[in-house]
Amino acid sequence: MNKHTILVTGGAGFIGSNFVHHCLMENDNVVVNLDKLTYAGNYDNLRQLSQNANHIFVRGDIADPSMVSALLEEHQPAAIVNFAAESHVDRSITGPDDFIQTNVVGSFNLLAATLKYWNDLPTADRAIFRFLHVSTDEVYGSLNEADPAFTETTPYAPNSPYSASKAASDHLVRAYHHTYGLPTLTTNCSNNYGPYQFPEKLIPLVIHNALKEVDLPIYGDGSNVRDWLYVSDHCRAILAVLASGRPGEVYNIGGNSEKTNLEVVRTICSILDQLAPRAGDASYASLITFVADRPGHDRRYAIDASKIRMELGWHPQETFASGIHKTVQWYLSHAAWVENVTSGNYQSWIETNYGARR
Ligand code: NAD
Ligand code: DAU
Repeated sequence: MNKHTILVTGGAGFIGSNFVHHCLMENDNVVVNLDKLTYAGNYDNLRQLSQNANHIFVRGDIADPSMVSALLEEHQPAAIVNFAAESHVDRSITGPDDFIQTNVVGSFNLLAATLKYWNDLPTADRAIFRFLHVSTDEVYGSLNEADPAFTETTPYAPNSPYSASKAASDHLVRAYHHTYGLPTLTTNCSNNYGPYQFPEKLIPLVIHNALKEVDLPIYGDGSNVRDWLYVSDHCRAILAVLASGRPGEVYNIGGNSEKTNLEVVRTICSILDQLAPRAGDASYASLITFVADRPGHDRRYAIDASKIRMELGWHPQETFASGIHKTVQWYLSHAAWVENVTSGNYQSWIETNYGARR
């Protein structure tokens, strides 16, 4: 087994690519990056690593058994971090099939291939190996205003095809530890934001639309609440769990930063008003438009991250104020990246999702 080699799946997506950059900043790590390059995966996110010998990119599907087994045999990783997923709730409502295929069948396939690989390792290597599954707070369902935040023992109550598919994969991970002893770790994280997020999710969509001076669509009345975490804090949390988390355990990760969607959008507008003012005196906030709600829209998510804080000493370094400022600045200075990812069939998704809401 190569003790410094990590197999990262989904490492061309938003969080995965941030994580790969993070890992490679630490000296000895070698990252084998397996990604199918769906609409959400973008090799441009990894462009700066094209000359880095410690980054090995492989285009492929986690649901392909022989390819995954061959990759494990070839690279002998000491850890696997599974980011690969279909991740957008709205797309899971209009087309759930891909979510079942990748999030459930793909995760199962990865676990099955990993178990075989792990069983064949020498005893000392088996003790060190880890399989870390990256999951979401959405598996716990929806909170009302006065409810306490989700803990690791909150019962699962997924409400969308996306969260149901992630819940299924979490259960498979749990079963592979309980039944076969595979040294798994599961992390359930709140909403991430930051560089390289595809502009179909709220924060990059609003920045993108604002700069184009088109409507900023807010589902329902904008009072739904999310707990926002800057992506590099999530990456640091995953590295902490990988290094020191206890096999078989679940760790919740959150930003301790609950905001209504309307607050988030108004904050972005006021930052843009300072950094990229519109012609005339109008604020970007005048583009805010309330549209038909998301079916089954979860009211509120909130994470109690005391377990990871107390066991592993992790806590977020960014506040929402500092993180959102950096994020808006990143999108302003990466117009070519935005242009590139919004060419192709981006427009047809916008029409599918927003056409019927107007
Ligand atoms: P993303 O949609 O930006 O990226 C997903 C990546 O997975 C893409 O690069 C895509 O090409 C790849 N992929 C999809 N299907 C694949 C397959 N079958 N085989 C190999 N690669 C495949 O997602 P993200 O927002 O970066 O989320 C990454 C992970 O973190 C997901 O598992 C998601 O459930 C979880 N998560 C996301 C958030 C969030 O706020 N974005 C919060 C908590 C947890
Ligand atoms: O909580 C973690 C989850 O966060 C992750 O597991 C998901 O992969 C990730 O996509 C995210 O899910 P959300 O559905 O919370 O994120 P999204 O950015 O799609 O929406 C955030 C909130 O903003 C949600 O209440 C819906 C609302 N929204 C979203 C869009 C795209 C709008 O009001 N208008 C929009 O146009």
